[in-house]
Amino acid sequence: MPSPEILLRGRDISRRWGGLVAVDRVSLELRRDSVHAVIGTNGAGKSTLIDILSGETAPSAGSVELLGKDVTRWTQPRRARRGLGRSYQRNTIFPGLTVLENCRLAAQARTQRPWAWWGAASACAASVEAARTAAARTGLDDLLGHDAGLLSHGQKRQLEIAMCLATRPDVLLLDEPLAGMGAEETERMLELLAELKSGHAILLVEHDMDAVFRIADVVTVMVDGAVIASGTPDFVRASPAVRAAYLGDAH
Ligand SMILES: Nc1ncnc2c1ncn2[C@@H]1O[C@H](COP(=O)(O)OP(=O)(O)OP(=O)(O)O)[C@@H](O)[C@H]1O
Ligand SMILES: [Mg+2]
Repeated sequence: MPSPEILLRGRDISRRWGGLVAVDRVSLELRRDSVHAVIGTNGAGKSTLIDILSGETAPSAGSVELLGKDVTRWTQPRRARRGLGRSYQRNTIFPGLTVLENCRLAAQARTQRPWAWWGAASACAASVEAARTAAARTGLDDLLGHDAGLLSHGQKRQLEIAMCLATRPDVLLLDEPLAGMGAEETERMLELLAELKSGHAILLVEHDMDAVFRIADVVTVMVDGAVIASGTPDFVRASPAVRAAYLGDAH
């Protein structure tokens, strides 16, 4: 059987901040129907890599291809309209707005009318529909009218994913979606990610190694900006370089 199609490709991506090389010639391919985890210690360059793939940070070198098109010079909103969704390491929801309103605003980002961003929101039935669908998918359908600022930590992370889904992406870039979650919330989120895998390409940055090794099809390990190993969970777990640099003896 042929491998699922490559939806997002990064080629030789580097990013320097002054003298610091935060991302060092990283290449990776995200395929439909798969979860690709990127792991590494604090400061390894994982979030910077996501920022470059999503269009929020320009690379110092290298290129990004989305659905077969070179999008290296495209802005983040343009990439989002083309099917690239992301969530952030820190919550970026709007407290004071309801769950549904947060999702609807995210859905609006996919429309072609940025000048009518807020005013036309309530009139845009397609956005409301996308918002409802995304909220339901993440298990927030009972909380549509709730103030997002009053949600539990886990629910806020679910809302982040819902906002990402509301843009109807093909590719999901998720920066530590499990951070700060309890065991039960983690389980629920992992179930959701397993569900979302079908039809999407998911890049998952995560520190929870048990979760990563359970859910990922491919694991890429970064140290000081560079990839030291990439492959199946079994391959990475057995890699002497990874054990020495990162996993230690615990795994
Ligand atoms: N805007 C910036 N200006 C200067 N240095 C930056 C900037 N953003 C990130 N860095 C530096 O780049 C390096 C990589 O940071 P990054 O946030 O990508 O790491 P990370 O792997 O996501 O870490 P964590 O696991 O803590 O989230 C760090 O040394 C960080 O201090
Ligand atoms: Mg980070």
